[in-house]
Amino acid sequence: MTVSERIDVLTERRWLDTATAARLKRGAALLPAERADRMIENVIGVFGLPLAVAPNFLINGRDYVVPMVVEEASVVAAVSASAKLARASGGFNVDVGESLLVGQVLVTGVPDADAAMSVIEREAEELIALANSLQPNLVARGGGARGMDIFRARFPTGGATEEPRDDNAIILHLLVDTRDAMGANTVNTMCEGIAARVEELTSGTVVMKILSNLADRSLVSASTTLPVSALAERGRTGESVRDAIVLAGHFADSDAHRAATHNKGIMNGIDAVAIATGNDWRAIEAGAHAFAARTGAYRSLTTWTVDSDGNLAGRLELPLKVGVVGASIQANPAVAVSLELAGTTASAELAGLMAAVGLAQNFAALRALVTTGIQEGHMRLHARSVAASADTPPEHFEAVVDRLVQSGEIKVRKAAELLSAVSAGGKSAARESGRAPEVHGRAAGKVIMMGEHAAVFGRQAVALPLVSAVTASVRECGDRTTLEFLDDDQPLAQPPAGLGELADLVMGRLGLAGRHFQVRVQSSVPRASGLGSSAAVAVAVIRAFNHVFALGLSDEAVNDLAYACEKLAHGNPSGIDNTVATYGEAVLYCKESAQPIRTLELREFPPIVIASSGVQSSTKQQVAAVAGRHAAMPARYNAIFDEMDRISAEGAAALVRQDYGTLGILMNLCHGLLNAIGVSTPVLERMVDIARENGAVGAKLTGAGGGGCIVALCPGTAEQVALALRDAGYGVIRHVTRTVAPG
Ligand code: MEV
Repeated sequence: MTVSERIDVLTERRWLDTATAARLKRGAALLPAERADRMIENVIGVFGLPLAVAPNFLINGRDYVVPMVVEEASVVAAVSASAKLARASGGFNVDVGESLLVGQVLVTGVPDADAAMSVIEREAEELIALANSLQPNLVARGGGARGMDIFRARFPTGGATEEPRDDNAIILHLLVDTRDAMGANTVNTMCEGIAARVEELTSGTVVMKILSNLADRSLVSASTTLPVSALAERGRTGESVRDAIVLAGHFADSDAHRAATHNKGIMNGIDAVAIATGNDWRAIEAGAHAFAARTGAYRSLTTWTVDSDGNLAGRLELPLKVGVVGASIQANPAVAVSLELAGTTASAELAGLMAAVGLAQNFAALRALVTTGIQEGHMRLHARSVAASADTPPEHFEAVVDRLVQSGEIKVRKAAELLSAVSAGGKSAARESGRAPEVHGRAAGKVIMMGEHAAVFGRQAVALPLVSAVTASVRECGDRTTLEFLDDDQPLAQPPAGLGELADLVMGRLGLAGRHFQVRVQSSVPRASGLGSSAAVAVAVIRAFNHVFALGLSDEAVNDLAYACEKLAHGNPSGIDNTVATYGEAVLYCKESAQPIRTLELREFPPIVIASSGVQSSTKQQVAAVAGRHAAMPARYNAIFDEMDRISAEGAAALVRQDYGTLGILMNLCHGLLNAIGVSTPVLERMVDIARENGAVGAKLTGAGGGGCIVALCPGTAEQVALALRDAGYGVIRHVTRTVAPG
């Protein structure tokens, strides 16, 4: 599903109300910078992380969708998969007992520690009443200080050189019920407020007063039982997987190096919920690890055993003092969304949810570790998103994912190649069963991010691939060559002008002149719109011949022939289109450089929206018109092209380092220059305006102009920009919100 579709499903199933869904879609559920500025010091912006949901949780008989904020791939998938397995056998049971936060007061220099402890014990009620008088609102909400514990301090209290002694210092623990808040400030205020009276009572000196993050008076446990039969996988019996998980539990419990990683996995889940719900995850982390070391050795937070029926039983216990109210929680609108999703207004319930998520995460990690290892899972997930980006149809999806993982090269270009192979395999079976042949050749379209037109004059340009934009198939047949063109699945009555010449040129160059073929081309990008459709058609057709006749053409040879086709279509093309169509990679292109194509290694595909004005335009005519104006004023036009060249170089660097703020500004500058050289139109200007008004950080015409398309850079706002452009009546060709390695 797309981000927007997921929000729709959550709304349909009533996990979110429609107003919240609309805010999420508009990107209006984010913390505004002005509010961030009031939360901490020296604010310069707001930092983003993915917010996701983990479905399938059944906890104490109730269904939950868990909000998670985490940057690590696989965590959400792992948690959801474990929850799905667990729900088949009743889900998770959680137990949340007392929920008290401990405040510590250290008193030194007492003349007599025993006497000091006795007096505190005697006056405990008075001190508790004093603490409560400082927090009347908490008391009104049913909370407040509930009790006190007193300990002797056993460490040097009189300075660095002193020996440890336990006769002149005591530690007082104030136990506070903070209701639905985490309560750090409340407890600190209480501890500070009773300090003077404690000094009077003990004749000592209060050195420190602060809460403890070892929240061992707020212990939460979660348990689940997983049927042994459900644990079998890939030739391993359920018993063997179960026993390996139990062993992994023993390993973590007896070895601190393993325990740290084991517990880190648990915290992958818990922290993600803590961040989503605005809780202090450092406090939770500190408490969890201190609790794990409570026996003096650092140990596992979970236990995995075999129950009397032979099933796998897991239990997690840890301190979790969390809140659902409080200043930082209320300040952040994204937290309200998370709490709405979690469907909880009680801190105890949220703590139980976190414990269940921690246990689910631990199970998923151990299961993966004792079976296939975790890397395969990571690779598989990555492969799935790459296969989706290559527009892999559902019938070939799993096969392409399998082959991608096997190939170890998880790139969109590889996915497109594997898809051709897989669908060609399907094709021979289809031919035998009498169905029409499918895809033989694929090619990428392109979107120019900056530098169009300047590229024709030897300056640099940046382009991104639109993978699998065009597919082609060929079949030898009858006594004449037929051409069929499907535009977005709709057959065109007349194949586009030039397709016949293109086929002739390709057949001639490949030594197939005089033979007859049925050539079928399908395109998901509009023609004559600056998205490289003609080059992609050439590459897809060449590849189809290459495939069917096993010609063994290299990518380089495909690219050369496609360039010849481009010359036929456009006169003086820069060569960027056929290059991107062939290689399917982001490039910095300069036809006059010694190395014309420099591949840009992108870690993710940028969040862009491409929309069409619906107006076709001829690249050939636009290029010729600019050439005419350039000839009339070469110095002025060269100055503009030089500036575009610099913009492209800087833009390529910004793209690689995912600096979308800079990239957006450069795109806007490039658009201004394209307007200056006369290739924009009122419609394109309007579209660029709409994109910018709706949150695009950069928007420009793309391609030859005079019609065609715009491209907008929309980090976090792609849905909104796409929606606004659609509402205004423009066709959205692609919008990329999911960012994946583009290959
Ligand atoms: C990775 O973030 C977490 C794991 O290392 C946890 C574990 O080893 O149990 C997979």
